[in-house]
Amino acid sequence: MHPPVAVSYGDAVTDAGARAGAPGHVPEVVTVARADTAHGEVALRRRGAVLELVVDGTFAMDTVDTTTEVALAARALARHPAPGRVLVGGLGLGITTRAVLADARVAHVDVVELAPPLVAWSRAAAVPELAGIEGERCALHVADVRDVLDGRHGPKGPWDLVLLDVDNGPDFLVHGCNAALYEPQGLAAARSVLSPGGMVGVWSSHVAPTLLAALRAVARPGDEVTEEVVPVEREGRSFRYALYSLVLPPALT
Ligand SMILES: C[S@@+](CC[C@H](N)C(=O)[O-])C[C@H]1O[C@@H](n2cnc3c(N)ncnc32)[C@H](O)[C@@H]1O
Repeated sequence: MHPPVAVSYGDAVTDAGARAGAPGHVPEVVTVARADTAHGEVALRRRGAVLELVVDGTFAMDTVDTTTEVALAARALARHPAPGRVLVGGLGLGITTRAVLADARVAHVDVVELAPPLVAWSRAAAVPELAGIEGERCALHVADVRDVLDGRHGPKGPWDLVLLDVDNGPDFLVHGCNAALYEPQGLAAARSVLSPGGMVGVWSSHVAPTLLAALRAVARPGDEVTEEVVPVEREGRSFRYALYSLVLPPALT
């Protein structure tokens, strides 16, 4: 989630003024949709042209700068010769999923989202950013991606790409239950649902040596593990997001 800053609604309003770039001008903040879930409140808030996702009272992401959400998809798609089936966890504001769908080589995308309201708002086109994602090439699933990777629930693999952006990363979790996803147990599960030559990509709001070590721990001979640090400037603040990947060797022919 992006960036890893917990804010109250009041703080969010103040931030919105800075983003608008007009000194003293604070755009009206409108809660477009909100709902309570088993994992806390989920809300969509509009500040001028910006859409913001708040999960359990924590700023999750907005549409100010979505380069790294796109990069999570783009880097993986560029590496794979034939990414026909892709798993994305979670939906968020749909940026990563749309980047995957923009690649005509992708025949099918399974998007796994923990918060039922986000899927419902997408299907109902509650905001343009989430509208029209589900379709012939894309299925939305309400599930915990950990259960999907373990084969307990939801769509079944194998997938050519598994793209995980469900939390901040191992050091700033919004949902403590996501910890295992960044540990060898969860990453091994993600690796196990890949087709030959497949890739797991993980977004992190910070450089995470423990995540890199966990990926290396589950890698087998021939796998390739990488860490890419992506500097991002947002309203005068510098962030060092990071993309992690594990790539399987191609099938022997
Ligand atoms: C930062 S957003 C994802 C952003 C997304 N990459 C995009 O481009 O919009 C994280 C999403 O993951 C969801 N999520 C959190 N934990 C999850 C889990 N265990 N399984 C599936 N989805 C989860 C959250 O509800 C939220 O919608």
